[in-house]
Amino acid sequence: MAKHRIACLPGDGVGPEVIMATKNVLEKLGDKNDFVIEYRDFPNGAEHYLKTGEILSDSTLREIGKCDAILLGALGDPRVKPGILEKGILLKIRFAFDQFINHRPVRFFPGVATPISSAGRENLSLDFVRENTEDFYVGLGRRFSGKKDKTEMRLDRRNYSMEFKIKVEVEGENESAYQIGIISRSGAKRVIKYAFDLARRKEKRKLTGVDKANVITEMYGLWRDAFHEVELLYPDVETEFAYVDAVAMNLIRIPERYSVLVTPNLFGDILTDLGAGIQGSLGLSPSGNINPDGVSMFEPVHGSAPDIAGKGIANPIAALLAAEMMLTRIGEKKASEDLDRAIHFVLAERRKRTPDIGGNSKTDEVAAAIIEKLT
Ligand code: NAD
Ligand code: IPM
Ligand code: MN
Repeated sequence: MAKHRIACLPGDGVGPEVIMATKNVLEKLGDKNDFVIEYRDFPNGAEHYLKTGEILSDSTLREIGKCDAILLGALGDPRVKPGILEKGILLKIRFAFDQFINHRPVRFFPGVATPISSAGRENLSLDFVRENTEDFYVGLGRRFSGKKDKTEMRLDRRNYSMEFKIKVEVEGENESAYQIGIISRSGAKRVIKYAFDLARRKEKRKLTGVDKANVITEMYGLWRDAFHEVELLYPDVETEFAYVDAVAMNLIRIPERYSVLVTPNLFGDILTDLGAGIQGSLGLSPSGNINPDGVSMFEPVHGSAPDIAGKGIANPIAALLAAEMMLTRIGEKKASEDLDRAIHFVLAERRKRTPDIGGNSKTDEVAAAIIEKLT
């Protein structure tokens, strides 16, 4: 019997609720498909931070690194200043394991209302490939007041390190802030290659490069150059560029125009919540933070949803679809397909569904309905 070691961080808010449901479904899939998952559970999140002061230590990171994959719920809590947990746990893991690809599929499910036209919707399949370790996420920035400011900052990355010495002089005492984004050619090329490979495997072999090279000319100009360099290796894939603002509009108006979209980090963050919106709910969007040669992390796209946390009504399907991606990654393809079929079945049936998609079922009732379809 195959055994898989999974690091599990349920995190905050609805995170533990959707992860509990996911673990139950995974257990049943294991029974049916002859594998077991051995979890290493980590308590990191708001509660643990408020109690102990620990965010995520290097020794915990090392423990996580011994596992085959990571399953994460969500991070963020109204009691903790924004950024502490999100950057200190989620981004720290993405960076530490060099999970440079954030693959976020957008699928349309039977029986789920969406704001887009229904014509051909069920055949529509979008894949966002979001760069996941650079751009404005590198964490270089500062807020200052007064007339002068002098800062030294250092950024260490996989194959480069940068030192910045910044001297600012402003007139008056206007409080100001800056944040530096970084894109490297190698960082852009590797994620763009992944997107091309994905586009090549799809029926609609098309890749849309998303940027804002008309305004953020340096960073996204380099992104576009990297795209052109990689493009030469894939003459069989149709390509186009589009500015992020136009993509946001077209995703609602003519989503069938797209197949795979490759985006810098921040635009990918925003567009994938829009992707969830056109699916009908954030409760249906999964995410794989992938390092093809290392430890990958799977999580729902959504956050800790403090507005519904503790009520037992979070939609578990986004986390389940993330688990589905994880199963494929750890070699349990059949289990992943079984899960996909069961999710489709339960959604199409319209009997058990959470309030975000118009039902009144609880998280665990939806999980139980999915488990029932697995037998
Ligand atoms: P959110 O994704 O938590 O919630 C946005 C809206 O979607 C809310 O109305 C929420 O109720 C709804 N929603 C989210 N998940 C749902 C689910 N599974 N079922 C039904 N409805 C669901 O975003 P937010 O409110 O902007 O952020 C809340 C916190 O989460 C913040 O601290 C933020 O930093 C954090 N966050 C974390 C992640 C992550 O861990 N990956 C992602 C996004 C936001
Ligand atoms: C996401 C989240 C994170 C991001 C935050 C919480 C750091 O919004 O996974 O989409 O911006 O990547
Ligand atoms: Mn996001």
